[in-house]
Amino acid sequence: MIKAIDEAVRFVRSKTSLQPQVGVILGSGLGNVVDALEIETAIPYSEIPGAKASTVVGHQGRMILARANQTPVVVMQGRIHFYEGHEMPEVMFLSRVIGRLGIKQLIVTNAAGGINTKFQAGDLMLISDHINLMGMNPLRGPNVDELGVRFPDMSEAYPASLREQANEVARSLGQLVQEGVYLALSGPSYETPAEIRAFRTLGADAVGMSTVPEVIAMSQMGIPVLGISCITNMAAGILNQKLTHQEVMDTTARVQNDFTALVLGCLERFS
Ligand code: HPA
Repeated sequence: MIKAIDEAVRFVRSKTSLQPQVGVILGSGLGNVVDALEIETAIPYSEIPGAKASTVVGHQGRMILARANQTPVVVMQGRIHFYEGHEMPEVMFLSRVIGRLGIKQLIVTNAAGGINTKFQAGDLMLISDHINLMGMNPLRGPNVDELGVRFPDMSEAYPASLREQANEVARSLGQLVQEGVYLALSGPSYETPAEIRAFRTLGADAVGMSTVPEVIAMSQMGIPVLGISCITNMAAGILNQKLTHQEVMDTTARVQNDFTALVLGCLERFS
């Protein structure tokens, strides 16, 4: 495993001398952040040895090395999901590659359903913590000692200090952002209304099908994470309407400008 990761790292390094300080993983429909960057190199996932290409509509699969103002960044435009049928090491692969490239922080983003009834479609939520109900821990299996310890601590996976900085950026942009707990399922079916009621009593504010494998990989590597969920819809049973991927895509398109401004502001702060 470590050999494959480091081969991919060598491949990326052979394409650019840029040393990224911050990593960004862009979720469904949230890829436009890239348009605001000064791109140095864009590498399709299909060219990276060991990487899988994403199959989901709305997910472009490219690793981009760029500058956001002065900050050197590496961006994963599109991610690999567990529900596509990949194994967890494949889902974590590119996050581990950008971790080994030497990033100091990761900004991970996703589309999520709002469980907290104070939320509205279009809200942005800073992830304060997560609940892993994907049915599996992504680190199951032989430990890759080069990446970190067997039993990684998860008590500060999303450090408050990064959220405070993101909140300051949001305030300076005149944005109101929510904060809450992200609950991850494997998907791909959406949840039932009974599941959503159950998850609310468990303390979840939003629900999605990604992010947790990458964040656990980062915790093992000692890399702090800022998580931003775009609440693309209210979760099942809250409103009298069905859930569709189209609504998810429509909402991300609507909030694209605010989302991009928040991510860019955070990239500048984290430099
Ligand atoms: N549930 C799970 N994943 C999601 C949702 C949802 O309602 N919206 C966007 N991703």
